Amino acid sequence: MVWLHARTIRVHRKLDSAYPGAMSSTPPADSTVQSPSLAPRSLGRSGLLASRLGLGSSYAAPTSAYEEAFERGVNYFYWGSRRRGEMARAIREIAPRHRDSMLIVVQSYARFGALVRASTLKALRSLRIDQADVLLLGWHNSPPTPRVIDAAIGLIDAGHVRHLAISGHRRTMFPALLDEQRYSIWHLRYNAVHRGAERDVFPALTQLEAAGRPGIVTYTTTRWGHLCDPRRTPPDERPPTGTDCYRFALSNPHVDTVMAGPNSRAQMRQALDALTLGPMNDEELAWMRRVGDHIYGSDRTSKARDRV
Ligand SMILES: NC(=O)c1ccc[n+]([C@@H]2O[C@H](COP(=O)([O-])OP(=O)(O)OC[C@H]3O[C@@H](n4cnc5c(N)ncnc54)[C@H](OP(=O)(O)O)[C@@H]3O)[C@@H](O)[C@H]2O)c1
Repeated sequence: MVWLHARTIRVHRKLDSAYPGAMSSTPPADSTVQSPSLAPRSLGRSGLLASRLGLGSSYAAPTSAYEEAFERGVNYFYWGSRRRGEMARAIREIAPRHRDSMLIVVQSYARFGALVRASTLKALRSLRIDQADVLLLGWHNSPPTPRVIDAAIGLIDAGHVRHLAISGHRRTMFPALLDEQRYSIWHLRYNAVHRGAERDVFPALTQLEAAGRPGIVTYTTTRWGHLCDPRRTPPDERPPTGTDCYRFALSNPHVDTVMAGPNSRAQMRQALDALTLGPMNDEELAWMRRVGDHIYGSDRTSKARDRV
């Protein structure tokens, strides 16, 4: 573990000079291994400076893989939907020394105010932190009830949380939330198969300054691994890797941070490689769309998955 801390601190020093005007959450990105066009960027009106790759905790990547990701500049740690121990141990290891460099997101699916509070405080205790950078109100296909919002605002007022995010599967809800300043970040589905956000969500953001719009974080990037499954790829096309899936989503200018759900160290490295390779060119994007269209068209559940 000593090597991790020594190297991370070195990267940190480099960063302090690379991002002199950054807000308090400066990611430990190493510009020598990152595509310049995938440098960290501000998550919309939250002002949080986030790595372009975020990590979910639902799958089985080992703790050391999360630590490696932090070293390689990833600072968006989303402890949800499944709050697994592998990521929790990494956060407990890294946060005591580098809390200001991390963005820690906790999620609550609770529909009752008291449970939102209890679930959030339980997460903070488990991660041994005093405050989450983001509370993600999870899976809202219509705006949360006033009680849920009041509970979330209460957590901000008490200093337990800095910003609110909202996730949902009904994409048309998002543009209606545009003037709702309380949600600084939107989490939504976007991948080469499910590209409806290009039609339903992103056009609403085009005229807005970064500081006036929500930060956009996208999930289901590999479509639960389907995009990387050669059995689902058209016979005359090369199957995408995880790296291709992340690069596809990161190529969209409206997308700030792309979530990865790695199940192993190898999958984590594929995700991290997207930061090195950078966005796709037009030919690569066209190939991903062809594969995505094929998977969409050959899966009878696609329409339903597109909406829920
Ligand atoms: N807030 C919400 O409403 C919401 C909605 C969806 C997801 N999420 C969260 O977002 C995070 C990201 O997960 P996701 O489900 O969206 O991710 P995803 O990429 O759609 O699915 C993750 C699965 O993809 C496969 N995979 C990942 N990397 C791969 C690679 N390099 N090559 C081949 N297969 C790969 C793995 O499957 P194998 O098991 O086959 O290896 C893994 O179990 C998670 O924490 C998740 O819980 C939140």
